[in-house]
Amino acid sequence: MAIIYYWIFLLCACMGSCGAIHWLGLTVNGSSVAWNESEHCRLLEGLVPDQTQLCKRNLELMQSVVNAAKQTKLTCQLTFSDMRWNCSSIDLAPHFTPDLIKGTRESAFVYALASAAISQTIARACASGELPTCSCGSAPAEVAGPSFRWGGCGDNLRYGLQMGSAFVDAPMKSSKFGSQATKLMNLHNNAVGRQVLMESMETKCKCHGVSGSCSVKTCWKGLQELPLVADELKSKYLAATKVTHRQMGTRKHLVHKELDIRPVRDSELVYLNSSPDYCARNPKLGSYGTQDRLCNKTSLGSDSCNLMCCGRGYNVYTETIVERCQCKYYWCCYVVCKKCERTVERYVCK
Ligand SMILES: *[C@@H]1O[C@H](CO)[C@@H](O)[C@H](O)[C@H]1NC(C)=O
Ligand SMILES: *[C@@H]1O[C@H](CO)[C@@H](O)[C@H](O)[C@H]1NC(C)=O
Ligand SMILES: *[C@@H]1O[C@H](CO)[C@@H](O)[C@H](O)[C@H]1NC(C)=O
Repeated sequence: MAIIYYWIFLLCACMGSCGAIHWLGLTVNGSSVAWNESEHCRLLEGLVPDQTQLCKRNLELMQSVVNAAKQTKLTCQLTFSDMRWNCSSIDLAPHFTPDLIKGTRESAFVYALASAAISQTIARACASGELPTCSCGSAPAEVAGPSFRWGGCGDNLRYGLQMGSAFVDAPMKSSKFGSQATKLMNLHNNAVGRQVLMESMETKCKCHGVSGSCSVKTCWKGLQELPLVADELKSKYLAATKVTHRQMGTRKHLVHKELDIRPVRDSELVYLNSSPDYCARNPKLGSYGTQDRLCNKTSLGSDSCNLMCCGRGYNVYTETIVERCQCKYYWCCYVVCKKCERTVERYVCK
């Protein structure tokens, strides 16, 4: 009996905190769904009630949500391909391993990225006319310069932030379960993701005028691509702050673990629990180890064989690559190439 209660407890505890990025699992079957019936909102087990409500009331947004989940996965793996922890476990969504559950630095990054991604895809869907509930962003408050005028259709960041935060923050706001500290951590990191997205807004222009002279320009505000947002978040991940949950006045807050007089800054990612070094395989800790990972012998960064292989050394393989080469153009109209073989060395961690 006690065991059953324990499992029920675990299940419920997960709804609030570890299930908070459950929606990343929408990549599994989300694309094949038409999202035109409110029944579709029940397809993903683990959407918290508030998210299901949002889904039912805003079915048209769900394609953007699915898109954001896909982009989050791809971008996380791209951004961390040169690191020991390479974001491979995100593929398990909606079932996560401890590296993304236990209030780690890695989960801080993924929450922030997912939060930025969802607001971005919605802001862009507005601008491209895919959504009936929103359109282009409002014209910027800055005055246009002498060489350009505002025009075109800017990304609707305001709507993206509003709907995106309603969706990603819902699990932390609605659930009675899950630890308060983890909820505060997730909410904070979600907000950091949106902050970095806001800062990525840039002016984009199109030239007009006689034969591309660019004498007249039309400009609008658009968001940068997600990999650039992710690079900024990666810097914040590397400098993330370990926090603890402390009573301050009438409420509990997250404070810096070592300097507990310093309040947490709005610009920093925060985490509650230290991660393993991800060198050795230990599934209980969510560490897959770096054995068999490719490393770079000449790099001095995190993908160097020394750092990637944690000092264990590496094996060298040679691989033969066949390429098209010495191509010649014959008039008119074909190209003939030779096949060239090239051997490259690959370094793989022991
Ligand atoms: C939803 O879309 C599918 C496929 O496009 C269609 O077969 C179905 O009739 C639609 N349902 C409603 C309620 O419009
Ligand atoms: C990421 O790391 C895991 C575990 O070490 C490995 O199995 C996987 O191939 C890696 N993925 C990439 C793209 O390097
Ligand atoms: C290895 O690192 C060097 C230096 O950073 C870089 O120029 C090179 O392209 C890298 N090689 C591979 C195969 O990634």
